[in-house]
Amino acid sequence: MSEQAAGGHPWDAHAAWWKATFTGGADPEYDREIVPLVRREVGEGARRVLDVGTGEGQVARSLQACGPADRRVVGIDPSGAQLAFAAGAGGGPCFVQGRGERLPFADATFDAVVCCLVIEHADDPDAVLAEMARVLAPGGRLVLLVNHPLYQGTGSGFIDDQILGERYWRVGPYLDESVAYEEVDPGVAIAFAHRPLSRYVNPLGARDVVLVRMDEPRPPAELLATSLDPALESAIPRLLSLRFEARPPPAARVRDWDEATGGR
Ligand SMILES: C[S@@+](CC[C@H](N)C(=O)[O-])C[C@H]1O[C@@H](n2cnc3c(N)ncnc32)[C@H](O)[C@@H]1O
Repeated sequence: MSEQAAGGHPWDAHAAWWKATFTGGADPEYDREIVPLVRREVGEGARRVLDVGTGEGQVARSLQACGPADRRVVGIDPSGAQLAFAAGAGGGPCFVQGRGERLPFADATFDAVVCCLVIEHADDPDAVLAEMARVLAPGGRLVLLVNHPLYQGTGSGFIDDQILGERYWRVGPYLDESVAYEEVDPGVAIAFAHRPLSRYVNPLGARDVVLVRMDEPRPPAELLATSLDPALESAIPRLLSLRFEARPPPAARVRDWDEATGGR
């Protein structure tokens, strides 16, 4: 069923808020950390790049502006309202309406797949992971950014205990999967799913898409400006970036070994 036939997507209602709050230089975390990190992790070589859950398209536009001259970036999102902003901003990527759970692309189409702060909102994360692994070419990179599951899960957060005179970071029930509606701004309630890290790493590993690098950037200074304890909060990561690589199929690995050893 299309998003139109279903009466729109929940993120349609958040599209104007998302654009005003997180894009076009409005958010220091995106500007100074997320976008440069994604560019670096995708790397210089990738020609065909897919941005799953592209939203207003800021990550896709940034990736289109770097890399090889013949790079082609495709952004896909189920929200028509997000895509309308993406199309209006231009910048070169091609935008397609659809869900990560069912990507309308052939196997091994992309040299790099990006999924930036999306999987927490997807109805079926296993299907999204399987689809991203399917469309990734052998040797390709999958860059997955999530709210750090260890420190930002349901029930986690800064505690200022005025009675005990202690400040600490409470870690919620990490191993329990849960969905919480968070009012991120007045009138903007968004569903966030919490899952332990193994729920993302192992399904990809089972498809020969293996973890090769992780980054846990410190929150930018602007976000700590209003903290009661900036030193404590600066040591608690908000984001986790995971870079996976699609290993070549077993037959190719055996052939490489034969080539490398001269068949000995
Ligand atoms: C927090 S925004 C991130 C947008 C963009 N990736 C960025 O970093 O600027 C989350 C996006 O995920 C999209 N989304 C939600 N469920 C999805 C799904 N099942 N497949 C693909 N995208 C989805 C939403 O429509 C929304 O645009």
